Amino acid sequence: MIAEEFTGAVELTVNGKKVEIAARPDMRLSRVLREELGLTGTKVGCDAGDCGACTVLIEEEQACACLVPVAQLEGRRVQTIEGLAEDPIGRALQRSFHYHGAAQCGICTPGMLMASLDLLRRVEKVDLPMVETALGGVLCRCTGYLKICEAVLDAGRFLEPDEGLDEDAISANGVASIGELKPPTGSEPGLPGNGVSVGARVARLDGLPKLDGTEVYGADKAPQDALWLRAIRSPHARARFVIGDLRTFVSNEPGIFRVLTAADVPGENSFGIFPDMKDQPVFAEGETRYRGEAVAAVIGERAAIDGFDVSRFPIRWDPLQPLIGLDGALSPNAHASHPAHPDNVLVRGWVEKGDIESAFRGSSHRAEGLFSTRFVEHAYIEPEAGFARRVGKRVEVFASTQAPYMSRDEVARVLGLEPGDVRIIPSACGGGFGGKLDVSLQPMLAVAAWQMGVPIRSIYTRPESMAATTKRHPAAITARAACDAQGRITAYAMEADFDTGAYASWGPTVAGRVPVHGTGPYRVPNVLNRARAIYSNGPIAGAFRGFGVPQAAIAHEALYDELAEKAGLDRLEFRLLNALRVADETATGQVLQASVGLDRCLEALRPHWHKMLEEAETLNDKATVMRRGVGIACMWYGIGNTALSNPSRMRLALTREGRVLFFNGAVDIGQGSTTVLTQIAAEALGLPVSAFTLVTGDTDKTADAGKSSASRQTFVSGKAAENAALALRAEILRHTNAGADARFALEGGQLKIDSKAESTVIDLTAWPAGADGIVFEGAGDFDPPTEPLDIKGQGVPYATYGFAAQIVALDVDMALGTVRLERFVAAHDVGRAINPTLVEGQIHGGIAQGIGLALMEEYVPGRTENLHDYLIPSFGDVPPIEIILVEAAEPLGPFGAKGVGEPALVPAAPAILGAIRHATGVSIREIPALPHRVRAALEAAGRAWEI
Ligand code: FES
Ligand code: FES
Repeated sequence: MIAEEFTGAVELTVNGKKVEIAARPDMRLSRVLREELGLTGTKVGCDAGDCGACTVLIEEEQACACLVPVAQLEGRRVQTIEGLAEDPIGRALQRSFHYHGAAQCGICTPGMLMASLDLLRRVEKVDLPMVETALGGVLCRCTGYLKICEAVLDAGRFLEPDEGLDEDAISANGVASIGELKPPTGSEPGLPGNGVSVGARVARLDGLPKLDGTEVYGADKAPQDALWLRAIRSPHARARFVIGDLRTFVSNEPGIFRVLTAADVPGENSFGIFPDMKDQPVFAEGETRYRGEAVAAVIGERAAIDGFDVSRFPIRWDPLQPLIGLDGALSPNAHASHPAHPDNVLVRGWVEKGDIESAFRGSSHRAEGLFSTRFVEHAYIEPEAGFARRVGKRVEVFASTQAPYMSRDEVARVLGLEPGDVRIIPSACGGGFGGKLDVSLQPMLAVAAWQMGVPIRSIYTRPESMAATTKRHPAAITARAACDAQGRITAYAMEADFDTGAYASWGPTVAGRVPVHGTGPYRVPNVLNRARAIYSNGPIAGAFRGFGVPQAAIAHEALYDELAEKAGLDRLEFRLLNALRVADETATGQVLQASVGLDRCLEALRPHWHKMLEEAETLNDKATVMRRGVGIACMWYGIGNTALSNPSRMRLALTREGRVLFFNGAVDIGQGSTTVLTQIAAEALGLPVSAFTLVTGDTDKTADAGKSSASRQTFVSGKAAENAALALRAEILRHTNAGADARFALEGGQLKIDSKAESTVIDLTAWPAGADGIVFEGAGDFDPPTEPLDIKGQGVPYATYGFAAQIVALDVDMALGTVRLERFVAAHDVGRAINPTLVEGQIHGGIAQGIGLALMEEYVPGRTENLHDYLIPSFGDVPPIEIILVEAAEPLGPFGAKGVGEPALVPAAPAILGAIRHATGVSIREIPALPHRVRAALEAAGRAWEI
């Protein structure tokens, strides 16, 4: 082993205990805490002072642990998340965060809590601006910050001296024993512990470990003897390369044991989402297709990997002319990025209905435009991390993923193993948003562990995470829309090109989903929507909350604003006039049978809309440099896969000890599926949530629930959970004479069954059980009914759709081109809000990401590969959001529920862009609407104020 070089010991106090650290004096506090002291509650999101995930208190003041060299800490006091519960304010904050649903994925939560503690210790009475300032250095990609602010402002209510978030509040299996968390006085019904399941604001069942630093993310765990892996990546968008003498290289590099290349991949050196599009290599062979692509992996001891100078790696690069953007990829002289696609068109999607050209000719009003968007980075705060190890003839991979079974199959393919010989154990997921659907480091880790026979771990750096992994597709959308004299939409046509980058990833899904959704959620009798996914040498564009629908919504909502104006209709009334309703036919010819709540959303927004418009009018009467605008946008979103089988399987069991085991393979990426699915199962079974013990996300223990994407887990896995619960209930009742009305109650191993026909007690402890103590069990499946689309894109692509409308008020600085958001009101038809707190959290977070899409986020390879240059919304960027939940029950869904993850994001950007147009009279069609673009558009229209 290479020893860390150090010059002496540093003595400091951590969470009240004196510790002596023998490490290099420049070693950062974050690493000392995590690796020397095992305090992994302090997270590292960027290692550069940009994200605040590593926030701790040093001498009572918040600081980024990733910036502080340990040598500066001699004799100083450090407090981390692990010491938070020793402080009464810390405990109050934990409780308040738990109560308000302020932690979603939880990766930012330790930093948020420590910054909050700093504030509340210093200031007795806090207000919102104080919270926003004090926590402003910590980024959250999930919550939209609003529930975090609520939690900090409300923490005082949880200051109860004799209560703490202690071990007793966590049951033996690590799941919150939520009955023991007492809600504050005056709380509404349906809180934890009151026995209500569906519709209740049950606190996250996986919430407590996110609040005390014990949650285990990808970087938080690995076998002691694990070696480290670092990928060698292309610095060029496209280049040929030749790798030199690796034997000599390894022998000259102390602590480096091996280099892996494509030649070391025992199975297929390729992976991908679709069976016929496995076009992405684990290690490129001879030529790279994007900046950041891996060509090899160096494996060695930690110190050697840390100190490794990549310029010493023996490789010769020969840069080639890359295909940059859609224009580059589609130019007549463009080379074929993949030989099977000579024109660089990966795939086409198509929906055609009616007679589009005669409809346009016969319409009273027309609008058209070209809309373009850029690469957008997921910017989850947890970079990719994990480890793999060989266990006999099998391989285990522990890593952050949204799709364990897909990961399993890809790793098996790469290793040349049967899928059953691979076990995927998902770590807690510190944010995904689609970016962790594709495998990232899993194949490399698995190949290394398989070849070397020792555990191998890796943690992507922030720049590596941003350069190597998928993005939202840039789009160029040319669209036309028309309506009749009364404002009824008559036709919509769209040609949408999506830059899918170097490899296919989810490009086919985007190209397939966009034409279906391209008209927006309206009755449109004549439609011609075409989409293409185009290969380029850009970053791989994959899945990102909406699969292209957010980009398409920017186009259709802008055109409908124009049509409303031309037809002399209010923008909301235009949308209400055209809104899809039950029995209407969609662009694919699907007749909607139920659960179409868009008209209710719009009607609920109407009073807010008029109030906002009046306020804007009043403000704009005064001629100042600021102009107020109000925007509106609607959306629909097909829940689950597009016209493809989409199954999920869940299993429930009742044990001798009187616990309900819930085997749930759906990965909770922060959206709350663990809690929501348990609520559904509890309601259907007739036992409280507190009776459940969760077994989650391990391909050896849980069945395939499909991926956590496409807003599908509540609808699809929720229904499977309901079916499993009903099966277990039926199995129990089969052994009694009780009727279907039976009420269950558990007291230890005694199951009390009470019905009109019979009241009885089953002594589970005396019942025959398997080795695992299981007495009764039930399994449930659900695969939403869809029909394939025909050659014209006609069919039933989704079993159900989420609907929403959002309105926003904002101010535009007519001189600077800056935009300040004032307020959102969001009305969402979710079918049934299984857990309103979690639904609200999804809507807040989705809107925050929509704000980023509309106003700030633009990923440029080589230039914005960090969280300093790539800006995501922070505290001050998200305005107040009022939420109106509409419940148009979906008969197929569990207790009527659909999904909300992606629907929350889709309308936010078009609403903002509509509001900018309302404020300024200028339509911004190159997205994001950065200040220089707004200013340029104002200048071009002669509306800019002098600076
Ligand atoms: S990890 Fe320290 S600021 Fe991001
Ligand atoms: S909860 Fe803040 S980043 Fe996920």
